[in-house]
Amino acid sequence: MTTPRERVESLRAEIARHNEAYYARDAPTIPDADYDALLIALRDLESEYPELASEDSVSRKVGAGSTTVFSEVAHAEPMLSLDNVFDVTELGAWAERVAKGLSLDLEQIDFAVEPKIDGLALSITYEDGVLVQGATRGDGRVGEDVTDNVRTIKNLPKQLGAAHRGRVEVRGEVFIAKSDFLALNEHQRSLGAKEFANPRNAAAGSLRQKDPAVSRERPLSFLSYQLVDLDGSMSFDRYAQTIALLSRWGFLTASEMKVVHGASLMIEHSTWFEEHRHDLLYGIDGVVIKVDDLAQRDVLGFTSRAPRWAIARKLPPEERATRLLAIEVSIGRTGRATPYAVLEPVLVAGSRVSMATLHNEDQVAQKDVRPGDLVIVRKAGDVIPEVVGAVREPGKRRKSPWKFPTTCPDCGHPLVRVGDESDTYCVNPACPAQQLQQIIHFASRGALDIEGLGESRVAQLLAEGLIGDVADLFELRVEQLSSLEGLGELSATSLVEAIEGAKSAPLSRVLVGLGIRHVGPVAARELANTFHSYDALASSSLEALEAVEGVGPVIAASMYDYCREPENQERMRRLTKSGLSLREPQVTSAVVATLATRAVVVTGSVPAYSREQAEEAIVERGGTSPGSVSKKTYCVVVGEAPGASKVNKARELGVPMIPASEFERLLATGTWITTIT
Ligand code: IVH
Repeated sequence: MTTPRERVESLRAEIARHNEAYYARDAPTIPDADYDALLIALRDLESEYPELASEDSVSRKVGAGSTTVFSEVAHAEPMLSLDNVFDVTELGAWAERVAKGLSLDLEQIDFAVEPKIDGLALSITYEDGVLVQGATRGDGRVGEDVTDNVRTIKNLPKQLGAAHRGRVEVRGEVFIAKSDFLALNEHQRSLGAKEFANPRNAAAGSLRQKDPAVSRERPLSFLSYQLVDLDGSMSFDRYAQTIALLSRWGFLTASEMKVVHGASLMIEHSTWFEEHRHDLLYGIDGVVIKVDDLAQRDVLGFTSRAPRWAIARKLPPEERATRLLAIEVSIGRTGRATPYAVLEPVLVAGSRVSMATLHNEDQVAQKDVRPGDLVIVRKAGDVIPEVVGAVREPGKRRKSPWKFPTTCPDCGHPLVRVGDESDTYCVNPACPAQQLQQIIHFASRGALDIEGLGESRVAQLLAEGLIGDVADLFELRVEQLSSLEGLGELSATSLVEAIEGAKSAPLSRVLVGLGIRHVGPVAARELANTFHSYDALASSSLEALEAVEGVGPVIAASMYDYCREPENQERMRRLTKSGLSLREPQVTSAVVATLATRAVVVTGSVPAYSREQAEEAIVERGGTSPGSVSKKTYCVVVGEAPGASKVNKARELGVPMIPASEFERLLATGTWITTIT
């Protein structure tokens, strides 16, 4: 039997270890829900045995200290944490305490209900409207000075409304949007660089880069949820008013935030998030409920670590424990051998997961997961299932560490790991697993988009010995196909026609389809636009390839080598003979009509664009750029020194106004995240 003192000490040690992993190394080893359970167990023990409680217990501290090289910043006001509740009953009990503290009825209180963004807290100080400092939370009292990196956050206003004088601090969460996270990992993959474990870790790592140029490349966003009036010169009655001002200054604020009257509606809206969490732009790990009336907040005050006027309702964990049945290796189209976990099926973030990537040999070793272990599974960016790590099961004998296979599971050739790369490859070009993946990729939507040529059809054609390389596709005849299972005369004819149709595909798509290492869609387009034809591309020098915008030495070398490999030369010769165009049609501009038929009014100056250039960019994307705002205006881009009449008109008509910092996003996607109100 352990004594309460021993239990408290062991819990403190365990929590401190997890704090270190979570806050200092951005590498959590247990699910958040389990961490919270440890903290609750410790607090319960400390309140049951007050003699064991101590001022410096981990239960009273927020986060871990900073361990990086950034200089320290003392926060003007401590950056506190939030207390958590885990269900509606506990939430109701919190509301009761609030009502009691205010001597009001539960249904008389106004609550702001908003998402708890799964990012990291950031404090940004502005002096006379100018951004002067960005700091992480650190231990709540002292954080790290990350000003240079903060300046690279694209949706962050670098300047507040010109009229604002004095010092203010804006606090909020730095995060990477779910879609941006997927694109970032895709980009990392295409560069052969390390993928990020999840959006939070990617955001934390990006913010703590020593080189701001690296931070700039990362799709960081900032959402604000607190205004700290350092001079005490502003007066607000309501939290919602401060959020409205932040939004007017151009900060992103949570559009899902609602101020509701009474505890019943508060609980109802907080439950809404449970159902809709997967539809939000950002990953959330809960809902934050705050008393809206600022005078009421003053009455309620703070405990040593958190305000009494706010609470975080943690949502059910999105990380689950399940049994790791086996570790297998799959061979991709480039021959990369990726280990993956075969799991006892488990429901995670709304879907059943039975497999999860383990990325590479080093990841398996680092996570030290072994077949038979109980492992934690979550969805990175709410999408990709992955194994976080193993759960220790005291007293249980584990299998010996898993060893990466030395030969390809499909063709038996030796697997090769080159230099200091973390990936392992099957280098046998005739490996059937690679052929299958290459042909599937060639026919896929992002490449030649050949209808009727999905995964199972490709596997069937390969198994029948009708194809072994993408060049074989163009030699298939209806007679060969019509006798195959599941393919009659009619569908065989359609398939051959679909393949025929792919012959006119632009070179860029063929390059993507060939799956050349490091050559992703962006580089493929740049290469095709520069050289116009495969012949020109194949005969260009390494230097000429490197000189192409967006093509670095790694991509250039990979492309150069591809063109010189005899086997690839033979493939390209056969594709040419089959009648593939292998040319990039010359369009006047390669832009997409993201703003087709939309009227976008620009007022004030947009950084990096002259007035004409901004209008041209809109017109190029299919939009119009009239000189005045009307009911039909899609949105108004508000730059530096905007025209008052346009802004007033837009406000009057309810036309969305977006800050100039969103202009690039508008051009690229036709939409925006931040609006000015
Ligand atoms: S308010 C004094 N609002 O959650 C209250 N925090 O567990 C300050 N967080 O440190 C925090 N979304 O990093 C607040 N809408 C939100 C939030 C939020 C995420 C984070 C923040 C905070 C932590 C507390």
